[in-house]
Amino acid sequence: MILLKTKEEIELIRDAARLLGRSLAEVGRHIRPGVTTAFLDKIGEQFIRDNGGIPLCKGYEGFPAAFCISINDVVVHGIPSNEVFIKEGDNVTLDLVVELNGLCADSAYTFTCGEVSPEMQRLLKTTKEALYIGLDKCKEGNRVGDISHAIQMHCEKNGYSVVRELCGHGVGFKMHESPNVPNYGVPGTGPLLKEGMVIAVEPMVCMGSKNVKFSQEDGWTCRTKDGKPAAHFEHTVAIGKDGPDILTTYDYIENNN
Ligand code: MF3
Ligand code: CO
Repeated sequence: MILLKTKEEIELIRDAARLLGRSLAEVGRHIRPGVTTAFLDKIGEQFIRDNGGIPLCKGYEGFPAAFCISINDVVVHGIPSNEVFIKEGDNVTLDLVVELNGLCADSAYTFTCGEVSPEMQRLLKTTKEALYIGLDKCKEGNRVGDISHAIQMHCEKNGYSVVRELCGHGVGFKMHESPNVPNYGVPGTGPLLKEGMVIAVEPMVCMGSKNVKFSQEDGWTCRTKDGKPAAHFEHTVAIGKDGPDILTTYDYIENNN
Protein backbone atom coordinates (compact mmCIF):
# COMPACT_ATOMS: atom_id res chain seq x y z
CA MET A 1 0.00 0.00 0.00
CA ILE A 2 1.27 3.46 -0.90
CA LEU A 3 0.92 5.76 2.12
CA LEU A 4 0.15 9.40 1.33
CA LYS A 5 1.58 12.22 3.43
CA THR A 6 -0.26 15.32 4.60
CA LYS A 7 1.12 18.83 4.00
CA GLU A 8 2.26 18.90 7.64
CA GLU A 9 4.02 15.55 7.31
CA ILE A 10 5.76 16.75 4.15
CA GLU A 11 7.07 19.78 6.08
CA LEU A 12 8.43 17.43 8.76
CA ILE A 13 10.16 15.36 6.07
CA ARG A 14 11.62 18.61 4.70
CA ASP A 15 13.04 19.36 8.17
CA ALA A 16 14.68 15.91 8.30
CA ALA A 17 15.90 16.47 4.74
CA ARG A 18 17.56 19.76 5.66
CA LEU A 19 19.52 18.13 8.47
CA LEU A 20 20.40 15.32 6.05
CA GLY A 21 21.74 17.81 3.48
CA ARG A 22 23.78 19.59 6.12
CA SER A 23 25.19 16.25 7.31
CA LEU A 24 26.28 15.21 3.80
CA ALA A 25 28.03 18.57 3.39
CA GLU A 26 29.69 18.34 6.80
CA VAL A 27 31.15 14.92 6.01
CA GLY A 28 31.94 15.87 2.42
CA ARG A 29 34.21 18.66 3.68
CA HIS A 30 36.38 16.03 5.38
CA ILE A 31 36.97 13.94 2.26
CA ARG A 32 40.68 14.06 1.49
CA PRO A 33 43.51 11.61 0.75
CA GLY A 34 44.37 9.43 3.75
CA VAL A 35 41.13 9.67 5.75
CA THR A 36 39.31 6.43 6.50
CA THR A 37 35.65 5.86 5.78
CA ALA A 38 35.16 4.96 9.47
CA PHE A 39 36.41 8.44 10.44
CA LEU A 40 33.92 10.06 8.05
CA ASP A 41 31.11 7.95 9.47
CA LYS A 42 32.04 8.88 13.02
CA ILE A 43 32.02 12.64 12.50
CA GLY A 44 28.82 12.37 10.48
CA GLU A 45 26.99 10.36 13.12
CA GLN A 46 28.07 12.83 15.80
CA PHE A 47 26.83 15.77 13.72
CA ILE A 48 23.42 14.14 13.14
CA ARG A 49 22.92 13.26 16.81
CA ASP A 50 24.12 16.69 18.00
CA ASN A 51 21.33 18.15 15.88
CA GLY A 52 18.63 15.85 17.24
CA GLY A 53 18.51 13.42 14.32
CA ILE A 54 18.71 9.64 14.13
CA PRO A 55 20.81 7.97 11.40
CA LEU A 56 18.41 5.20 10.35
CA CYS A 57 20.87 3.00 8.44
CA LYS A 58 22.59 2.15 11.72
CA GLY A 59 21.10 -1.15 12.85
CA TYR A 60 18.88 -1.47 9.77
CA GLU A 61 18.85 -5.21 9.03
CA GLY A 62 22.17 -5.32 10.87
CA PHE A 63 23.93 -2.56 8.90
CA PRO A 64 26.65 -1.42 11.34
CA ALA A 65 27.11 2.28 10.53
CA ALA A 66 25.31 5.61 10.13
CA PHE A 67 26.41 6.15 6.52
CA CYS A 68 26.87 3.91 3.52
CA ILE A 69 30.23 5.01 2.06
CA SER A 70 30.96 3.56 -1.35
CA ILE A 71 34.19 4.15 -3.28
CA ASN A 72 34.74 3.73 -7.06
CA ASP A 73 33.59 0.20 -8.02
CA VAL A 74 31.49 -0.05 -4.85
CA VAL A 75 28.09 0.97 -6.16
CA VAL A 76 26.21 1.20 -2.85
CA HIS A 77 26.13 -0.10 0.75
CA GLY A 78 29.87 0.25 1.44
CA ILE A 79 30.47 -0.33 5.16
CA PRO A 80 32.65 2.35 6.79
CA SER A 81 35.96 0.81 7.85
CA ASN A 82 39.21 1.71 9.60
CA GLU A 83 40.97 -0.12 6.79
CA VAL A 84 39.52 1.79 3.86
CA PHE A 85 41.60 4.89 3.12
CA ILE A 86 40.41 7.45 0.60
CA LYS A 87 42.91 8.41 -2.09
CA GLU A 88 43.28 11.13 -4.70
CA GLY A 89 41.11 10.45 -7.75
CA ASP A 90 38.49 8.37 -5.92
CA ASN A 91 34.78 8.89 -6.13
CA VAL A 92 33.14 8.68 -2.70
CA THR A 93 29.38 8.19 -2.36
CA LEU A 94 27.77 9.16 0.94
CA ASP A 95 24.27 7.67 1.34
CA LEU A 96 22.27 8.56 4.41
CA VAL A 97 18.80 8.31 5.92
CA VAL A 98 17.95 10.79 8.70
CA GLU A 99 14.93 10.71 10.99
CA LEU A 100 13.92 13.91 12.76
CA ASN A 101 10.74 14.40 14.80
CA GLY A 102 9.41 11.02 13.66
CA LEU A 103 9.75 11.38 9.89
CA CYS A 104 12.66 10.53 7.61
CA ALA A 105 14.38 11.46 4.36
CA ASP A 106 16.93 9.63 2.19
CA SER A 107 19.65 11.17 0.01
CA ALA A 108 22.99 10.29 -1.56
CA TYR A 109 25.76 12.25 -3.28
CA THR A 110 28.89 11.09 -5.08
CA PHE A 111 31.83 13.32 -4.12
CA THR A 112 35.32 13.31 -5.57
CA CYS A 113 38.69 13.34 -3.85
CA GLY A 114 41.09 15.83 -5.44
CA GLU A 115 41.64 15.56 -9.17
CA VAL A 116 39.58 12.88 -10.88
CA SER A 117 39.77 11.68 -14.46
CA PRO A 118 37.57 13.31 -17.13
CA GLU A 119 35.85 9.92 -17.55
CA MET A 120 34.92 9.89 -13.88
CA GLN A 121 33.69 13.49 -14.03
CA ARG A 122 31.45 12.63 -16.96
CA LEU A 123 29.99 9.63 -15.12
CA LEU A 124 29.11 11.79 -12.11
CA LYS A 125 27.65 14.56 -14.25
CA THR A 126 25.47 12.15 -16.23
CA THR A 127 24.25 10.35 -13.09
CA LYS A 128 23.23 13.63 -11.46
CA GLU A 129 21.52 14.74 -14.67
CA ALA A 130 19.64 11.42 -14.74
CA LEU A 131 18.43 12.06 -11.19
CA TYR A 132 16.99 15.47 -12.09
CA ILE A 133 15.50 14.14 -15.34
CA GLY A 134 13.74 11.45 -13.27
CA LEU A 135 12.61 14.02 -10.69
CA ASP A 136 11.06 16.09 -13.48
CA LYS A 137 8.58 13.24 -14.03
CA CYS A 138 7.45 13.33 -10.40
CA LYS A 139 4.04 14.88 -10.84
CA GLU A 140 0.48 13.73 -10.39
CA GLY A 141 -0.85 11.73 -13.33
CA ASN A 142 2.50 10.26 -14.40
CA ARG A 143 3.46 6.68 -13.56
CA VAL A 144 6.53 5.21 -11.89
CA GLY A 145 7.59 3.78 -15.26
CA ASP A 146 7.89 7.32 -16.62
CA ILE A 147 10.54 8.11 -14.01
CA SER A 148 12.30 4.80 -14.57
CA HIS A 149 12.39 5.13 -18.34
CA ALA A 150 13.64 8.71 -18.32
CA ILE A 151 16.54 7.77 -16.06
CA GLN A 152 17.45 4.68 -18.08
CA MET A 153 17.37 6.53 -21.41
CA HIS A 154 19.61 9.36 -20.25
CA CYS A 155 22.22 6.94 -18.86
CA GLU A 156 22.22 4.58 -21.82
CA LYS A 157 22.32 7.43 -24.34
CA ASN A 158 25.57 8.47 -22.67
CA GLY A 159 27.05 4.96 -22.90
CA TYR A 160 26.42 3.91 -19.31
CA SER A 161 24.29 1.20 -17.72
CA VAL A 162 21.90 1.20 -14.76
CA VAL A 163 21.87 -1.33 -11.94
CA ARG A 164 18.83 -3.65 -11.91
CA GLU A 165 19.13 -5.24 -8.46
CA LEU A 166 18.39 -2.08 -6.45
CA CYS A 167 15.89 0.72 -6.86
CA GLY A 168 14.30 3.82 -5.39
CA HIS A 169 11.34 3.55 -3.03
CA GLY A 170 8.64 5.29 -1.04
CA VAL A 171 10.00 6.97 2.09
CA GLY A 172 8.90 9.19 5.00
CA PHE A 173 7.31 7.15 7.77
CA LYS A 174 9.96 4.47 7.26
CA MET A 175 13.16 4.17 5.23
CA HIS A 176 11.59 1.82 2.70
CA GLU A 177 7.94 2.03 1.72
CA SER A 178 5.93 1.20 -1.38
CA PRO A 179 6.28 1.73 -4.30
CA ASN A 180 9.59 0.51 -5.74
CA VAL A 181 11.08 3.00 -8.20
CA PRO A 182 13.40 1.14 -10.60
CA ASN A 183 15.98 2.96 -12.71
CA TYR A 184 14.84 1.17 -15.86
CA GLY A 185 11.39 0.61 -17.28
CA VAL A 186 8.61 1.34 -19.70
CA PRO A 187 6.77 4.68 -19.84
CA GLY A 188 3.07 4.63 -18.95
CA THR A 189 3.44 1.53 -16.74
CA GLY A 190 3.60 0.99 -12.98
CA PRO A 191 1.86 2.75 -10.09
CA LEU A 192 0.11 6.05 -10.76
CA LEU A 193 1.72 9.05 -9.05
CA LYS A 194 -0.53 11.10 -6.77
CA GLU A 195 -0.12 14.28 -4.80
CA GLY A 196 1.05 13.40 -1.28
CA MET A 197 3.26 10.49 -2.34
CA VAL A 198 6.88 10.84 -1.22
CA ILE A 199 9.56 8.77 -2.93
CA ALA A 200 13.33 8.44 -3.09
CA VAL A 201 14.64 8.56 -6.67
CA GLU A 202 18.16 7.14 -6.87
CA PRO A 203 19.96 6.29 -10.10
CA MET A 204 22.88 3.88 -9.58
CA VAL A 205 24.92 4.12 -12.75
CA CYS A 206 27.87 2.06 -14.01
CA MET A 207 30.62 3.20 -16.35
CA GLY A 208 30.81 -0.36 -17.70
CA SER A 209 28.31 -3.22 -17.54
CA LYS A 210 25.25 -3.23 -15.29
CA ASN A 211 26.16 -6.42 -13.45
CA VAL A 212 26.89 -6.22 -9.75
CA LYS A 213 27.84 -8.64 -6.97
CA PHE A 214 27.26 -8.49 -3.23
CA SER A 215 30.14 -9.27 -0.87
CA GLN A 216 30.15 -12.83 0.47
CA GLU A 217 32.00 -11.64 3.57
CA ASP A 218 29.80 -8.81 4.83
CA GLY A 219 26.59 -9.38 2.84
CA TRP A 220 26.30 -5.66 2.04
CA THR A 221 29.05 -4.23 -0.16
CA CYS A 222 27.72 -4.04 -3.72
CA ARG A 223 30.42 -3.85 -6.42
CA THR A 224 30.41 -3.76 -10.20
CA LYS A 225 31.40 -7.16 -11.58
CA ASP A 226 33.76 -5.60 -14.11
CA GLY A 227 35.50 -3.45 -11.48
CA LYS A 228 34.67 -0.20 -13.29
CA PRO A 229 33.40 2.79 -11.30
CA ALA A 230 29.79 3.56 -10.51
CA ALA A 231 27.99 6.66 -9.21
CA HIS A 232 24.86 7.25 -7.14
CA PHE A 233 22.78 10.37 -6.56
CA GLU A 234 19.52 10.31 -4.60
CA HIS A 235 16.84 12.80 -3.59
CA THR A 236 13.62 12.46 -1.60
CA VAL A 237 10.78 14.14 -3.50
CA ALA A 238 7.09 14.83 -2.87
CA ILE A 239 4.80 14.33 -5.86
CA GLY A 240 3.01 17.61 -6.59
CA LYS A 241 -0.04 18.42 -8.71
CA ASP A 242 2.12 20.33 -11.17
CA GLY A 243 5.58 18.99 -10.53
CA PRO A 244 8.18 17.72 -8.08
CA ASP A 245 8.77 19.20 -4.65
CA ILE A 246 12.36 18.10 -4.01
CA LEU A 247 12.70 17.79 -0.24
CA THR A 248 16.37 16.87 0.16
CA THR A 249 18.98 19.36 -0.95
CA TYR A 250 22.53 19.62 -2.26
CA ASP A 251 22.64 23.35 -1.44
CA TYR A 252 24.87 22.86 1.58
CA ILE A 253 27.29 20.78 -0.49
CA GLU A 254 27.36 22.83 -3.66
CA ASN A 255 26.79 26.39 -2.44
CA ASN A 256 29.13 26.28 0.56
CA ASN A 257 26.45 27.29 3.05
N1 MF3 B 1 19.93 4.91 1.74
C1 MF3 B 1 19.91 3.56 1.28
C2 MF3 B 1 18.68 3.41 0.44
O1 MF3 B 1 18.63 4.09 -0.49
C3 MF3 B 1 20.37 2.72 2.35
C4 MF3 B 1 19.77 1.41 2.67
S1 MF3 B 1 20.82 0.24 3.24
C5 MF3 B 1 21.18 0.45 4.87
O2 MF3 B 1 17.71 2.77 0.61
F1 MF3 B 1 21.19 -0.67 5.46
F2 MF3 B 1 22.30 1.01 4.96
F3 MF3 B 1 20.28 1.18 5.45
CO1 CO C 1 17.17 5.12 -0.89
